[in-house]
Amino acid sequence: MSTEQTDNDTILPRHVAVVMDGNGRWAKKRFLPRTAGHKAGVKATRRIVELCAQKRIGAITLFAFSSENWSRPDQEVSSLMSLFLSTLNSEIDKLHERGVCIRFIGDRTRFSDSLQASISDAENKTEKNSRLKLNIAANYGGRWDIVNAVQCLAQKLVTGELAEDQITEQTFARELSLFGLPEPDLFIRTGGEQRISNFLLWQVAYTELFFTDTLWPDFDAAAFDQALEWYSTRQRRFGKTGEQVENKKEKQTG
Ligand code: IPE
Ligand code: IPE
Ligand code: MG
Repeated sequence: MSTEQTDNDTILPRHVAVVMDGNGRWAKKRFLPRTAGHKAGVKATRRIVELCAQKRIGAITLFAFSSENWSRPDQEVSSLMSLFLSTLNSEIDKLHERGVCIRFIGDRTRFSDSLQASISDAENKTEKNSRLKLNIAANYGGRWDIVNAVQCLAQKLVTGELAEDQITEQTFARELSLFGLPEPDLFIRTGGEQRISNFLLWQVAYTELFFTDTLWPDFDAAAFDQALEWYSTRQRRFGKTGEQVENKKEKQTG
């Protein structure tokens, strides 16, 4: 996947990661139950996925349910599970037609059999699509991802597939759930909080972090454009000096 340019020549991220936060507060402001906020959140999700496909952003990873969200009231958890199942079942054909490849990251074993079956069906149906890689983080935790990778590496040490000195950042990253995609260039968190909440921990080492007070259900095309515009003004130095980065750019364009 290469860095693409838009019409007005802004640099687009290749991979966007989003903490879709603020559904509950959106509902509360309207004296509605929290579930109404989650339903409104689904609309915003549909909108951003479509925008990514239109803009030719290669990958988006959405935080839908954290490993910590099980501690919410039972009624909210079960209504979220029903919403995931109904949304997945109703959206999958359209996503497939649009060339979206859907993948779930997180520990899915805690989900109901019907949800696990819909997840597998959706992944199998869309696995060859390449227009947009859509990753849904569900029962996901960044620490879980890391521990899972450590267990995979430990297994390989035991079987002799890997030697101790072959444990490197590269072999480690290969065991993480988003392996194969570029690391997120842009992280967006809606809802006003400025924290990671155990989302992609390893993968955001050099991601540009964008926080907005906009609540997730209100996150529309204009709000997304604002985040993309902000991203295009970042100078990504990866440890180098600003001058080094500028010189490289001049050499490439000149
Ligand atoms: C994010 O919105 C959705 C999930 C965590 C599933 P919240 O439900 O956290 O909304 P707030 O933070 O209470 O407003
Ligand atoms: C993070 O939001 C998880 C998702 C958006 C799915 P939370 O609302 O659960 O995060 P905290 O608990 O406020 O940090
Ligand atoms: Mg929240």
